[in-house]
Amino acid sequence: MSLLENLGIKHPIFLAPMAGVSTPELAAEVSNQGGLGSLGLGASSIEAARQQILKTQELTDCPFQVNFFCHDSVSVDEAVAQAWIAQFKDKFAEYGAQAPDHLECIYPSFKDNDDFLNLILETKPRAVSFHFGIPHPHQIQALKKAGILTMVSATNFAEAKAIEAAGIDIIVAQGIEAGGHRGVFSTKFDASVKTSNLVKLIRQHSSLPVVAAGGIMDGQQARLMLDFGAEAVQLGTAFVQCKSSNANEDYRKALLSKPLTQVSASISGRPARGIINHWHMEVDTPDRLDVPAYPYTYDLAKQLNAAAAKHGDKGYGAFWAGSNVAQIREMEASDLINQLVLEMSHP
Ligand SMILES: Cc1cc2nc3c(=O)[nH]c(=O)nc-3n(C[C@H](O)[C@H](O)[C@H](O)COP(=O)(O)O)c2cc1C
Repeated sequence: MSLLENLGIKHPIFLAPMAGVSTPELAAEVSNQGGLGSLGLGASSIEAARQQILKTQELTDCPFQVNFFCHDSVSVDEAVAQAWIAQFKDKFAEYGAQAPDHLECIYPSFKDNDDFLNLILETKPRAVSFHFGIPHPHQIQALKKAGILTMVSATNFAEAKAIEAAGIDIIVAQGIEAGGHRGVFSTKFDASVKTSNLVKLIRQHSSLPVVAAGGIMDGQQARLMLDFGAEAVQLGTAFVQCKSSNANEDYRKALLSKPLTQVSASISGRPARGIINHWHMEVDTPDRLDVPAYPYTYDLAKQLNAAAAKHGDKGYGAFWAGSNVAQIREMEASDLINQLVLEMSHP
C-alpha cells in the first residue's frame, strides 16, 4: 500500500506541525483539501491538546496528524542557568523588568509519562509524529495496536536507522533548510544535511516511506523531492502566512520582509532556524556562554521577549522560518494546496 493510501489522503502534501502556529482551522483546511493537516501539540497542556484535537475532528472528517516533542527530560545545570540569567540582567532592566531568578521546565516530553499517549489512544487521530527523538517501546506498541501511524523526524543517517529499528512507520527527513526546531536527537551533534541529500541518503538505506521537510515553498521544489524518492513533502513556513494560522501581525510582517534566517540554540536551548534578530546578532557571538538545556532556556527568552515587546522592541521574538522564506506567498491554505498540486503536475 502506498503512503497516501495508508494515510487515506489525496495529495502528497503534509502541513508541518507547528507548535504555537498550528490551529484546528488550518489543520482542517489542509485535510479537507486532500493534504495531511496537523496539530503541533508539543507546547500544549493535556487539556489544550484535547480541545484542539476535538475541534479539528469537528471541522473535518479527513485524516490529520498530531505532533509531540520526544526529548530526554533533564534537570537544568544551576551554574549554567545562573550564568545565562546574569548575562541578560541589564537587558531586562533596560525594559523595566527583572530577570528571573531561576529557569523553569516549560514543556514536558511525551516520554515523561503516558498522559499524551492516552489522549491519542482516546481521540484516535490517523497519525502521530514526534520531534527530538523516539517514544518509549511500550508507547510505540500501544500506538501500533490502536492502528495509529507513527512518524519521527530524522536529521541524519544514524537517526533514520534508529527510527527504523524502533518500528516507526514513516521517517520525516528534516533538512538543514527547515524552519523551526531541528529534530536532532542530541544537541551535541547536527550533521546539517540538505533536505535533498537526506532524502536520497535515507531512501538508499531504508525501506520506510520518507517525507521530505525543509525549504519547500512551491510545487517544483516539491516535485524534485518526490523525484529523489520522497513519498510526500512537509511544508511549514509556506503555511505560516495563511489566514487560519496563529501567527501574529509582527510575525506576518517579518515573513514578508524578504528576511534571512539562521540557526540558533540561544532562544530555546535547542537549535532552531528563524528570522535573524537580536538573538543571532547580539547573543550568538564567539564568546557566548553555555546555553542551558532545552526547554529551560526558552523560559528566559519568552520573558525577555515579553518585556522588550512592551517597549516596542520585537527583536527578541522567535519568528521561526525556513531558509527559503523569501519565496513565501500570501494565500489561503486551501488555495496553496491547489497551487502546489498544479505546480507539481506542470513542471
Ligand atoms: C513556525 C514553525 C514551528 C514549528 N514547530 C514544529 C513542531 O512543533 N513540531 C515539529 O515536529 N516540527 C516543527 N517545525 C518544523 C517543521 O516540522 C518542518 O520541519 C519545517 O517547517 C520544514 O521546513 P520549512 O519551514 O522550510 O517548510 C516547525 C516549523 C516552523 C516554521
